[in-house]
Order: sequence, then structure tokens, then C-alpha cells
Amino acid sequence: MFDLLPRHDQRQVGVTLHAHVTGWGMAVPERVLTNAELEQMVDTTDEWIVTRTGIRERRVVKEGESTATLAARAARRALANTDLAPRDINLIIVATASPEHLFPATACIVQDMIGATNAGAFDLSAACTGFIIALNMAAQAIRSGSITNALVIGAETLSRLVNWEDRNTCVLFGDGAGALVLEASERPGGVLSCVMRSDGSGGELLSVPAGGSHMPTSLETVHRRLHTIHMNGREVFRFATRVMASATREATAQAGLSLEQIDLIVPHQANLRIIESAARSLHLPMERFMINIDRYGNTSSASIPIAIAEAVEHGRVRPGDHLILVAFGGGLTWGALALEWVEPERRISIARSKRRRALAFLARVRSLIRRILRKLEGLIWGASSSAAAEKDL
Ligand code: ACO
Repeated sequence: MFDLLPRHDQRQVGVTLHAHVTGWGMAVPERVLTNAELEQMVDTTDEWIVTRTGIRERRVVKEGESTATLAARAARRALANTDLAPRDINLIIVATASPEHLFPATACIVQDMIGATNAGAFDLSAACTGFIIALNMAAQAIRSGSITNALVIGAETLSRLVNWEDRNTCVLFGDGAGALVLEASERPGGVLSCVMRSDGSGGELLSVPAGGSHMPTSLETVHRRLHTIHMNGREVFRFATRVMASATREATAQAGLSLEQIDLIVPHQANLRIIESAARSLHLPMERFMINIDRYGNTSSASIPIAIAEAVEHGRVRPGDHLILVAFGGGLTWGALALEWVEPERRISIARSKRRRALAFLARVRSLIRRILRKLEGLIWGASSSAAAEKDL
């Protein structure tokens, strides 16, 4: 158990702040898409997918679900583990490669959905490495004293970006979201170090070529499926096996730890063979790695927070444990983060969970009222400003 800093203490001079994980949560769609079903859709087999990737099934969203709805569900669950109400949240970062829109940011939509009325919010785009970078950015802001807490979410609906006729990619990806809450404390621990790297020269190895300013959406781009994921699997595989082990080593050393002191490595779940290759390079047994790719496939920036939430729920993370989170992805990007798990003990009372449900309902009502008021304001001010403009003429 450790003391979290109250809000008014956040800019105390001479205090060394640390950013601790105090909440975790995940959300995946109900719909399971199995390898057997994919056999009916493209020229593939369950045997090929399992032996080449380790994936047996993945989750896919249904109509009405999106990156923001999954993110908001994961965020509510993460907050439910903490003493924070949505209005206490200072910052929301959503790491995503499949945002709700080009803009507004998915993080702003989540802010409104959960009623985080005092939070700044932005999206972070670094493909599958996004969650690690977002967690590091939030931790740095907490350490600097400019905020006392942050909600960091990785959320994806890659099923909406996949070409379901391309067997090279459609068997790999899945949908889901995971969230962590970070809070400031004077107690050492939490985020210890982070390595962030990129190599833009490899950008075309993994991309969604159309739909941005370089190649705006047109009939031709849609016809040529350039708005879907394109990937050179072999090259990405080679790159990934190279960087996973080196980034892990670097982040471990930066945290002043040795590999023997790492209790759990939570790798990006892209391909079981990539994780096995990293384990071999690091001379670590596979038991030291958190694996759930068999059930969710590659959920990009959501894969690490989902894996953390499951690891905690399954008792694989205990207070005092040292974790390495490590990822690679489009960009190219890669990175690793060392974390000491110092989990505050809290009990969720029935009264508190009732209050949380009430707050979630109020957030929806509040959002609706704000939309109506904005419309009314627009009508009133629109009418008076056009009257004033007519008068000026
Ligand atoms: N079913 C059956 N055969 C397939 C399938 C499939 N689903 N997909 C590809 N094949 C075929 C290929 O066409 C190829 O056939 P060919 O030899 O006749 O050309 C053959 O299988 C072998 O292809 P390889 O590319 O050598 O297969 P490999 O063992 O490398 O596995 C894979 C392919 C799984 C894509 C692997 O390269 C990989 O995992 N790469 C990394 C991908 C990745 O991690 N991407 C996500 C990055 S994270 C992000 O930013 C979103």
C-alpha cells in the first residue's frame, strides 16, 4: 500500500515523483472469429495459421462498436480499480492505429463518453508501439509535476482496416482495448525507464497507403483497396526479431536491473514465433513471457495493456515485480519500458460500484445536454450575429 499524492501537492518543490500503475482494465468484442471461419473466407488453414503465428481466434467488432466504445469500456474498468472518479482524471491518451476519425481524436470521444470533465485528451500514433510511448509520455508528465494522474489506453478495431480477401494480413489482426491508470506517488517504483526508437525508412513495410494527405481517398484508392493494411510480412518479421531482444536489454539496463530480475515480459502479441525468437536471444524461458495471442491475435497498440490486465487478473503480477513491456510496429517503431509493480490495495465497496454506475449514466446525460445546449446556442447566436451583420450593412 502506498500513498498517492493529493492534487494540491502536485507542484511541491524538491519532491521526487514517480508514476505508478494503480488501475487496469480491458475490453474485447464478444464476437469470436475462429481460424475455421477464416478457412471459409480465404485460401488458408487452421494448421498454417497456428504453426506460423500461434493465433487460434481473434475478436471482431459488430455494428455500433468502434475503437472509442472499446476504449471507453476498458477505461471504465481501469478506473473502477482506483479511487479516482472520471472528473479527477487529468489526461487521457489513446494510442491507436485505427482511430475513430482522422479528427476529432478518439481520446476526446472517450473523454466525453466517460465524463472526464477536467481531462486533456489526445491520440498517439505509433502503430503497435503506441501504448509504450503513451505510457512513457504520461509518466514523464506525472514526474514533472504538471499532472497527478493519467488514463492511458491502447484501443484498436483493425478489423475495419483489414482487406478480408488478403490472406497475408486478415488472419493476423483482431480488435480490443486495454487501459492503465497512472498516478503520482513519492514512493519509488512505477515506470522506471523507457527506450523509444523509430526508422521511417521502413515505413512502406507496414502501412495503410491511402486516406491521408499523401493519397486522399478516391474511387481509385477504394477500388485498389489502398485504404486497407498492406504488409511485407517477411521483412517485418526480420525487423521484429532483431529489435525485441535489443530493446528489452536496453530498457532493463537503463532501469538498473539485470534480466534475471525481470519477473514478467509483456511483449506485443504479433506472432508467437517472434516472441519465441526474442526469448531465445535473451536466454529466458517462455514462462517468463505473457502470451495471449492464441485468443486475440494482433490487437496492435491494445495488445500490451490487454495482456497486462489478464496477467494481473490471473495472478501473474504481484507487488514488487519487475516487468518489461516491449513492442514493435509500423513506422517503423519499437520500444521497451521497465515497470515496477507497486499496486495499492483497494477494496471496491458495493456502494462505490453503484456510484460508478450512476456516474457512467450521468456522463451520458451530460454529453446529451451539452450537445443540445450547443445547438440552442448556435441557433440563438447565429440568429443574433446574422441580424447584427445585416444591421452593419
Ligand atoms: N494461409 C496460408 N498461406 C499463407 C497465408 C495464410 N494465411 N499467408 C501467407 N501465406 C503463404 C505465402 O503466400 C507464402 O507462399 P509462397 O511461398 O508461395 O509465396 C507462404 O505462405 C510463406 O510466406 P512467408 O511470408 O514466408 O511466411 P512466414 O512464415 O514469414 O509467415 C507471417 C508470414 C505470419 C505474416 C510472418 O511473416 C509474420 O508474422 N510477420 C510479421 C508480421 C507482423 O508482426 N505484423 C504486424 C506488425 S505490428 C503493427 O504495426 C500493426
